[in-house]
Amino acid sequence: MARTPPARTYRGTARNLARLAACLRAGDLVAVPTETVYGLAAHALDARACARIFRAKGRPASDPLIVHLHSVRQLGLVCLPNAAAHRLARAFWPGPLTLVLPKTPAVPAIVTSGRDSVAVRVPRHPLFRRLLRLAGVPLAAPSANPFGYISPTTAEHVRQGLGGKIRHILDGGPASIGLESTIVDLRDPSRPAVLRPGAITAEQIARVLGRRVAAPQPAAAQPGAQVAPGLLARHYSPRTPLVLHKKVPAALRGRAPANEAFLLQRQPRGAASAAHVFWLDATGDLPGVARRLFAMLRRLDAQGFVRIHAELAPDRGLGRAINDRLRRAAAR
Ligand code: TXA
Ligand code: MG
Repeated sequence: MARTPPARTYRGTARNLARLAACLRAGDLVAVPTETVYGLAAHALDARACARIFRAKGRPASDPLIVHLHSVRQLGLVCLPNAAAHRLARAFWPGPLTLVLPKTPAVPAIVTSGRDSVAVRVPRHPLFRRLLRLAGVPLAAPSANPFGYISPTTAEHVRQGLGGKIRHILDGGPASIGLESTIVDLRDPSRPAVLRPGAITAEQIARVLGRRVAAPQPAAAQPGAQVAPGLLARHYSPRTPLVLHKKVPAALRGRAPANEAFLLQRQPRGAASAAHVFWLDATGDLPGVARRLFAMLRRLDAQGFVRIHAELAPDRGLGRAINDRLRRAAAR
């Protein structure tokens, strides 16, 4: 089999975007920045192009892809939207919300793993939006990481994970949200359900729809069970074992050996902190915690600690999505 030359990272100049759009139309893969995490994009209506995504990631064919659109006007091309979908689209697109809706025949079976529904989203990242407009076609894109590992929030993370498997990476800077989109099942608009928590909360969705929205079960509570296809309990995982704590007691930090890391939500007060103590946000501000979580897990994973003790976020709002990713990362 031919070896792929090492990936090239592109800045978002007009010339580069035109070139990458042409690559996408021709069936090549391009890693793209989004406001949530980096994605690995291919022409969503080209089954052969989408097959390359599964090969590059080592992703099982049973795990369907999200289709990204430039505009809500393209919805009808890939799915059969209902009134609830239009409401959520008006409220949250472009943005970190993915809707699961009945698919049209235009979407190849490989994209949806043979299901009759498709996941769609209109992203907000300005460079990705320009690329979608220039490509002129819907782009299927899962997170741009080898299957099962932590999602990438920078172009450099993509290069580290997939640099030998893909040729094009568009650098749009660090992801501003840092967690994957909220996924809402709207196949039956009278029973909306959050399949994956994200920056847009179930409460926000319920408010717009004016009805109750089913929330997902916490990942750890259902070993082996799948919320959405591909949402395995174990996911987003560092190689270093992760131990979760509601709060990390200062005494535990004090007596732990230096080869165990502590990942706190906020900077500890008082006592000077040790070289094995880390925090996600100076004040524990949840958007800051979300934005830095995946990069920090990668950094700690590279440092040879035998264990990472991580503190959970408060279980509300964005904290639910943060804790969902921490629980999946800790599942063995
Ligand atoms: O923020 C995001 O959503 C990022 C960026 C790149 O857009 N994408 C992302 O994709 O996180 P991925 O492949 O890592 O996760 C997509 C998940 C699948 O694992 C699956 O659970 C769900 O979306 N999904 C896709 N199609 C579905 C369908 N027809 N029904 C239910 N769930 C579906
Ligand atoms: Mg993923």
